[in-house]
Amino acid sequence: MLNVSGNNAIGVFDSGLGGLTVVREIIRLLPEEDVVYFGDVARLPYGNKSRETVIKFSVENSLFLLSRGIKLLVVACNTATALALEFLQSIFSIPVVGVVDPVVERVAKMSPNEVAVIGTVSTIRSGVYQSRLREFGVSRINAKACPLLVPTIEAGYVGRPICDEIIRDEISPVLGRNTDLLLLACTHYPIIKRRIKTLFPKVRIVDSALPTAKAVKKLLDDYGIRKKHGVGTLELFVSDMPNDFEAIARKFLGKDMDDVKVRKVGDVLY
Ligand code: DGL
Repeated sequence: MLNVSGNNAIGVFDSGLGGLTVVREIIRLLPEEDVVYFGDVARLPYGNKSRETVIKFSVENSLFLLSRGIKLLVVACNTATALALEFLQSIFSIPVVGVVDPVVERVAKMSPNEVAVIGTVSTIRSGVYQSRLREFGVSRINAKACPLLVPTIEAGYVGRPICDEIIRDEISPVLGRNTDLLLLACTHYPIIKRRIKTLFPKVRIVDSALPTAKAVKKLLDDYGIRKKHGVGTLELFVSDMPNDFEAIARKFLGKDMDDVKVRKVGDVLY
C-alpha cells in the first residue's frame, strides 16, 4: 500500500532545465496535477559524469523532492535514467518512472527498419537504449553520443546558422541509408526537433516527453492516485539561476513563467 494521496504532487527532476520538456507534456495531459520540478542547473551536465556521481546526484535530487511530499517521481533525464533509475526504484517506496522505457515501447510500436539513437556520452556508453530496444524486438540500431548539442542549446544558439551546422555535424554520421527513425535520447533535444526535421526531412523523429507523460498517467491510474479535479500548480526549484534563466526556462516549458513559482535551493540541498 502506498502512503500517499492523490492530492500530492508529481515530482520531476533533471540535470537542468531539459526535463521541462517532459513537464510540458505532463501538464498538457494531466492539467489538474500539481508538479514540483527540480533542475540541478549548478551541477549540469550529467552527460559526461560517472555512474557513481550520477547516482549520488540523483538520490540527492530525489530526497529533496520527497521532502516536498510527492506521490510519484519522474526521472526526466536520460542520463540519470540510464545510470540511476534501478537504484532509485530499489530504495524508494513511491513509483519511480524514467524516460527510457516509455519511448522504447513507442518506437517498437512504430516498427522501424533501422533506428538511430543520439544522446549524451554517458547515456550512449551505458548501452541501456541499445539493450532495451533489442528486448522490444528492434535489432537494427546505430547509437552515437552528440556532446555538442546540450551546450549549444543551453547557450541559446538554437535558430542560428552555427546551431544547424553543429546539428548536421553531430547527427549525419549516425544516419545510415536505411535509417528511418531517429530517437532523441536526451530531454534537451526536443528544443531542436524542428531544426532536425528541417535538416533531415526523411527520418521520423521521436522523443521521450509525450511517451513519459502517458506512462505517468497510466501509473497514477494503476495506483489509484490520480488527482481528478482542480487546476494544477507548477513549482520550479533550481540549484542555480543562470543568466537569462527565465528565457531558457520558457523555451523548455513552452509557456510563460508568470504563474510558475521559482526558487533557488542549492544551499539548502547539499
Ligand atoms: N537532459 C539530460 C539528459 O536527458 C542531458 C543534459 C546533461 O548532460 O546533463 O540526458
